[in-house]
Amino acid sequence: MISYKDLGLVNSREIFKKAIENKFAVPAFNFNNMEQMQAIIQACVETKSPVILQVSSGARKYANQTLLRYMAQGAVEYAKELGANIPIVLHLDHGDTFELCKSCVEYGFSSVMIDGSHHPYAENVALTAKVVEYAHKYDVTVEGELGVLAGVEDEVSAEHHTYTQPEEVEDFVKKTGVDSLAISIGTSHGANKFKPEQCQRNEQGILIPPPLRFDILEAIEKRIPGFPIVLHGASSVPQDLVALVNKYGGALKDAVGIPEEQLRKAATSAVCKINIDSDGRIAMTAAVREVFATKPAEFDPRKYLGPARDTLKELYKHKIVNVLGSNNRA
Ligand code: G3H
Ligand code: 13P
Ligand code: ZN
Repeated sequence: MISYKDLGLVNSREIFKKAIENKFAVPAFNFNNMEQMQAIIQACVETKSPVILQVSSGARKYANQTLLRYMAQGAVEYAKELGANIPIVLHLDHGDTFELCKSCVEYGFSSVMIDGSHHPYAENVALTAKVVEYAHKYDVTVEGELGVLAGVEDEVSAEHHTYTQPEEVEDFVKKTGVDSLAISIGTSHGANKFKPEQCQRNEQGILIPPPLRFDILEAIEKRIPGFPIVLHGASSVPQDLVALVNKYGGALKDAVGIPEEQLRKAATSAVCKINIDSDGRIAMTAAVREVFATKPAEFDPRKYLGPARDTLKELYKHKIVNVLGSNNRA
């Protein structure tokens, strides 16, 4: 058993409290490798932002759990070396079983998500409560989910949104003891969040997605005032990066995300954690493709992963300062 406290990590409790009081959202950036981790830490140190380093079960398999633990510890030391002692959370994204959550707690995670959203309500409550009971013994915070996002949530896929029902949230929070709640108000995972027929096109032919259901968010906030809410599937799919990917041989078709103004608005509400993965993937892909296309003789991985890391860092800084408002909140 390795305690996250010995690795220099923190759980999400205090940073969420601060996020609600000061109307910002903490970035939850997914990572799978060293360059992504470096870009996240550099961006958060330079903007003095707290951060949630987020690991999916797929990322855990990809990177290896032992290496991940050392990477998280390395991230804490790296931030200090860069000059800022920012709060860093190591969080399991979309945990689907009690065993996976338990294993992450044992390997040094400071926060876990148990995603029982695809189960019937009573099963979701029972599974979530079991994870909370275990995790809280070690002061590890737990995120639950009510409502199903359209798109793909790891191995669980949902073709249509099932919006969170505000009538359920109070009971769920009370019965499970979760520390934060992910909700479904129209966001969705991946780079193609909406089908073109669900969108309108502006004069430039750019797809404009349907707006988020702020009415549902408000109804939820009324039921559980001051309780930390999480938004998954919150990439904006920047069209300039999509254009770069496609210019250099990619094939991202009809890629569309959540407009940043809507996320900015959400960040000033009880939404205090915003999950971003796909935008980072697009940014890295754009940078790598550009090097491959413009310098075909290049074969040193540092010469394409380096620019990818720089592009990622700029993307994260932009999110922190212009979308989440978490700069200077470390
Ligand atoms: O919500 C899912 C995240 O974007 C993680 O995706 O399972 O491909 O690592 P992944
Ligand atoms: P995106 O696919 O919109 O980046 O969402 C990521 C996410 O919700 C991770 O849990
Ligand atoms: Zn998610």
